[in-house]
Amino acid sequence: MWKFLESKEKNNKNNIEKKDELNYNNIPKHVAIIMDGNGRWAKERNLPRSFGHKVAVENLNKIVKEASDLGIKYLTLYAFSTENWNRPPEEINTLMKLLVEYLRKQLSELNKNNVIIKTIGDISKLPNICIQVLEESMEETKNNSGMVLNLALNYGGRHEILNAVKNLFKEYNAGNISKEDVDNIDVNMFNQYLYTKDSPDPDIIIRTSGEQRLSNFMLWQCAYSEFWYTNVKWPDFSKEDLHQAIKDYQLRHRRFGGIK
Ligand code: FPP
Repeated sequence: MWKFLESKEKNNKNNIEKKDELNYNNIPKHVAIIMDGNGRWAKERNLPRSFGHKVAVENLNKIVKEASDLGIKYLTLYAFSTENWNRPPEEINTLMKLLVEYLRKQLSELNKNNVIIKTIGDISKLPNICIQVLEESMEETKNNSGMVLNLALNYGGRHEILNAVKNLFKEYNAGNISKEDVDNIDVNMFNQYLYTKDSPDPDIIIRTSGEQRLSNFMLWQCAYSEFWYTNVKWPDFSKEDLHQAIKDYQLRHRRFGGIK
């Protein structure tokens, strides 16, 4: 009996040990993050919300580097949603300024790390300076071969799907696609009309700050994504938290609707 318990304990210990190690051969290809909790992080410290966003960008910098070092191929960050326009103008301004500052300051480092900058969302509605800096950053990094850093800006999943349908109609009306094409539309073809047409679906979606909802993020693409939530607010989200998310992901059994 004792022997049995002893060996059971040993097995459990082994299991725990296994969970404690990151498997570098099974790193998710696409990690998407809803960076939430900046405002609450600042409030807890009696600081203005803008300070929370500032620390958030410093943290983003650290996590981008770690993701790239881990060998993640695509990192999508939800930086500004189609609904974030409902925030007070000063906060929107702060976020836009931080975006410009981040790209200006970090572009050479991102380039050095072989990162390719891309965006998803309708960036044409952002302030001109943001569009300009984003376009320069995308142009400058387009020939890199490392991690794709996808910044979701003025992004909303519903908007993205509606936009795809509108563009499909436009193509049909212009005679670029036939009625037969439309009748036979499938997932692969529809994917081509989405902002994410060049990236695979996210393997894991991380949300910080304890909220457990998607908030209009990657609604089409998350069909088989694994979700991972933490109470840690984004400014405090550490490399170790990212490792933990990936370790938990590595324990999941993904069946994509099939059986193992
Ligand atoms: C959520 O926290 C965060 C955002 C809406 C914006 C995220 C933006 C950044 C980290 C900075 C700008 C982006 C780049 C790419 C440089 P919240 O304000 O909703 O927090 P709360 O829920 O506690 O109020």
